Amino acid sequence: MSKVAPLNETTHTEHPSVEEHYDKVWTEEEGEAWESWPFFRQNPSALSFALDRLAGNASLADKLVLDLACGVGYSTQELAGRGARVFPLDLSSQGLRKTLQRLERARLGDKVAAVRSSVEQLPFADASIEAVFAQNFLMHVNPELVGREVWRVLKPGGRAIFVEPLAHHPLVKLYRTLFSSYKGIKPKWSSREDLQLLGQPFSYTKTSGFYLLTALASVGFIQKRPWLLKPVFTVLHGLDRLLLKLFPGLEKYTWVSVTELVK
Ligand SMILES: C[S@@+](CC[C@H](N)C(=O)[O-])C[C@H]1O[C@@H](n2cnc3c(N)ncnc32)[C@H](O)[C@@H]1O
Repeated sequence: MSKVAPLNETTHTEHPSVEEHYDKVWTEEEGEAWESWPFFRQNPSALSFALDRLAGNASLADKLVLDLACGVGYSTQELAGRGARVFPLDLSSQGLRKTLQRLERARLGDKVAAVRSSVEQLPFADASIEAVFAQNFLMHVNPELVGREVWRVLKPGGRAIFVEPLAHHPLVKLYRTLFSSYKGIKPKWSSREDLQLLGQPFSYTKTSGFYLLTALASVGFIQKRPWLLKPVFTVLHGLDRLLLKLFPGLEKYTWVSVTELVK
């Protein structure tokens, strides 16, 4: 892969307002990238679970991985850091620019080639990609279309992992109603039914829920105090594991889902 790959202006976008929103956000700051939040950097996290599941029993070294809606490239760096050859793909050219800068700084620039495209129409041949990582964008797109496209480009036996916020966590719902910066672009937060539509073409699908009570540790007062965040996160995470084991029906109310798909 070329060192600083040119942005590949491939697919026409059907989402001009979403593109405009993120071009502005990624020019100004990185607040909508989950990994910029101390909360999402705690472990065990949905992200670390997802990255482990993406590899399955193998390693990501030299695998051809598509990083869908990569934003400013935190996940791209994680994947390239594990040895994968990555196509970070996004609608936002500002996000892709920051992604390439991030990878250059990490001396991983030769592992990536950026692609500017919609996730609903992927500019890749059938069965050409070995794994797909996807995080936090399903609220802007049609899950059924995305599922079909991801299935099409994956090689047989290839894995896709989606880390996605869900619609029904009561506190997160309240926060979204009062403060969400997404309001202007009308996100449709995913339900379990949307994840089923996403997974329809695949031979294996499994969704796990994260952050029920643990979501409380994401409030600003706790997130800004590392000495408080770690213990509060650990205790709440332990309680969540217990609650979800005793009452599996509560998974619907978790904040973040990790969906594993195998072609
Ligand atoms: C909330 S950000 C998440 C970015 C990154 N995945 C992360 O977790 O930090 C959503 C990203 O999805 C991208 N996006 C939204 N709709 C898209 C589409 N139809 N095709 C490609 N990217 C899209 C946006 O440009 C933005 O970078």
